[in-house]
Amino acid sequence: MGKQIVVAIDGHSSCGKSTMAKWLAGQVGYIYIDTGAMYRMVTLYALTHGFLTRSAEDNSITIDEAGLEKALADVDVSFAFDEETRLPLALLNGKVVEKEIRGMAVSECVSPIAALPFVRTRLTQQQQHMGEKKGIVMDGRDIGTAVFPKAELKVFVTASARVRAQRRYDELKAKEPDLPIELSDILRNVEERDYIDSHRELNPLCQADDAVVLDNSDMTIEQQNQFLLNLFRSRTEA
Ligand code: DC
Repeated sequence: MGKQIVVAIDGHSSCGKSTMAKWLAGQVGYIYIDTGAMYRMVTLYALTHGFLTRSAEDNSITIDEAGLEKALADVDVSFAFDEETRLPLALLNGKVVEKEIRGMAVSECVSPIAALPFVRTRLTQQQQHMGEKKGIVMDGRDIGTAVFPKAELKVFVTASARVRAQRRYDELKAKEPDLPIELSDILRNVEERDYIDSHRELNPLCQADDAVVLDNSDMTIEQQNQFLLNLFRSRTEA
């Protein structure tokens, strides 16, 4: 076996980062951490505990930052491993919330929550702790720049907003064919999130200087997985 490394996979929303990160982790026996799920869990908590409200009139979001910051001490965000599906399950205060965190309600509010410095500081520390022993594949927006700036392999994944919106739409429809969603709403959400994620003050989404860029707009999942595995081998077998 080659040396144990940290693999940091960053990029835009809905560009297949988690699919490839999860696959690589399974192939090489590494731990996989979806940091987006961690921000989504905090968002779900804020929504269900009244720290985040949306105006019915104009959809604007109000966050009780002081209240959320105080409450965060009691929020436990973690993962369990489902032996049957071989996939991680997101746990918010011990409860599986995989389905709840992937819905539109959370998707539409997660970027403002992820822009809060006290949320980022807390989750970044937890992520760094998770990767202390290496042997980990982590995906997110700031893994190669802020969480593990010394990661041995950094990949920056992207694809056009339209391709990403279509993939997200297909994914949601495959799970729930009667879901009342429009492709145009998904595209708007993808573009909005890109903007907020790239323009926030603390640790915005940006490409690390030493990251390998992967634009997978015209790639199949198999092609991108193979690309990643080859990169991984080149860094661990060198
Ligand atoms: O990867 P995702 O779509 O599940 O991420 C959800 C949101 O969380 C996304 O809008 C940006 C934010 N995020 C972040 O700011 N930093 C990370 N490391 C991971 C996600």
